[in-house]
Amino acid sequence: MNAKTFPLVPDSASDLAPQIDALMLAEIGFSVFFTILIFALVIGFAIKFKRKSEHDVTPHIHGSLALELAWSLLPFVMILGFFVWGTSVYFKAYATEPQGAMEIFVTGKQWMWKVQHPEGPREINELHVPVNRPLKFTMISEDVIHSYFIPAFRVKRDVLPGRYTNFYVTPTKTGKFHLFCAEYCGTQHSGMIGSVYVMEESDYEKWVAGGDESMTARGEALFSQYGCVTCHLPDNKGRGPSLVGVYNSMQKLQNGTMVKADDAYLRESILNPRAKIVDTYQSIMPTFQGQISEEGLLQIIAYIKSLEQEEGVQ
Ligand code: CUA
Repeated sequence: MNAKTFPLVPDSASDLAPQIDALMLAEIGFSVFFTILIFALVIGFAIKFKRKSEHDVTPHIHGSLALELAWSLLPFVMILGFFVWGTSVYFKAYATEPQGAMEIFVTGKQWMWKVQHPEGPREINELHVPVNRPLKFTMISEDVIHSYFIPAFRVKRDVLPGRYTNFYVTPTKTGKFHLFCAEYCGTQHSGMIGSVYVMEESDYEKWVAGGDESMTARGEALFSQYGCVTCHLPDNKGRGPSLVGVYNSMQKLQNGTMVKADDAYLRESILNPRAKIVDTYQSIMPTFQGQISEEGLLQIIAYIKSLEQEEGVQ
């Protein structure tokens, strides 16, 4: 068995990989160094201070404030250093949206991974992405908790029912990589696997062109199918508020508080319209709980998002 068939670490195929590997290596090195140091001192002192005769008496030791402060504060500062380092990597992966990120929508379901690309293509247990382009993943589960795990990217994040989770990563190497579910989710959990294909930009463009309707178009179709279009008129003369320009804007609610109309808010407003009602409107919208799949919700939100891009519409 050589290093090729039994690699110590997975392929390194994203901007996060070297950062997470460096942190891991430093933590392992730190732990190994102190483990060896402590064991060596225990054994060394056991030999050095061994009772040598019957009359050997333990001397009285008075504490040393300097020494005690040193062995308390130094490890504290060192561990705090790892905490700051680790947190900065975590924030980069899970809380910092890069400029111009390409969006990928993942829906977990017993037992498969469904992916939607805004341009249209949809895939199951596969993911095609271009190399060197920042990606924003938005994920949700149709049923139980799953976890989207791409070892070569060094990303793993829980995919939850009822809540969107995100991560941000830039693939840096073309090739085919493993995709796993990393949260036990029932009988076929171990089969909830797939492949990630990182492609050259030009190959990716070709691949995308083979897809069908865009998410926005699908969302627009659902928007009329479910009758949203009859109340949410673009001129604000309908029984519900116009949704033009609503995406990611601040909305004033009946109780006076302000909320940001982000993905989570829009999803909640479709499934549970009474939860947060926009000021001056009545609570007349029916719930769509259980009627629209999570994939459909993502499509409707993509459509609402697209409404902000149309210029000249008020
Ligand atoms: Cu899905 Cu384990």
